Amino acid sequence: MDSTRIKPFLAVTALTLLGACAGSETEEAPAASAAVSSAAQPDTTGAAIWAHLQDANYQSNWGLWPGKGELYAGNEPHGTLLTTYINEIAMEALTSGATSMPPGAIVVKENYMPDSTLAAVTVMYKSAGYDEEHNDWFFTKHLPSGELAQMPNGMAMEGRLPGCQNCHGNVAANDYLFSGQLGAAQ
Ligand code: HEC
Repeated sequence: MDSTRIKPFLAVTALTLLGACAGSETEEAPAASAAVSSAAQPDTTGAAIWAHLQDANYQSNWGLWPGKGELYAGNEPHGTLLTTYINEIAMEALTSGATSMPPGAIVVKENYMPDSTLAAVTVMYKSAGYDEEHNDWFFTKHLPSGELAQMPNGMAMEGRLPGCQNCHGNVAANDYLFSGQLGAAQ
């Protein structure tokens, strides 16, 4: 075997190894976990957040917003009926009387039509350093399929969404959250 025949073999081996590493990395740390390691990646994506929600199986594993049941009556512009789930970080903050949500907090609101059909899922994810002007909230709006909803101009609804920011800004003093008063253990 001369060196010209060894080199391609080595190249292929190296590629295979790289591929194997990349593959196993994806399995162990799905893109979804980017949604929670906020310090490492403040600019997450709506797709990563959705993947994280599926991975976490939030409907089974997360709690409901304290004091709210399933399919409670909502206000405009959200659904007629709402179910709001929060992850453990958010639950801990709410029940311990924190005055704002810590990084990593996620609030998922399912928006249902009057006949209880799911219409959309809206999410607020607190990502440290993402958007200090708006308390670092990353907003997303998903169709029931998980795909991101689109604005009239075709832009995917993820990130610094002015519509969400402005209305939720009415309760900026409560960390942009409407559903309950922060600072009082719930
Ligand atoms: C016109 C005002 C308004 C706009 C615009 C708005 N929201 Fe809301 N949002 C509310 C209100 C009011 C609630 C409390 C639930 C209810 O009564 O409907 C709420 C609740 C929520 C919650 C549960 C956490 C909380 O604040 O209580 C999430 C998550 C959420 N909205 C996400 C979004 C996202 C994402 C957008 C943009 C796509 C958005 N909202 C746009 C008014 C608004």
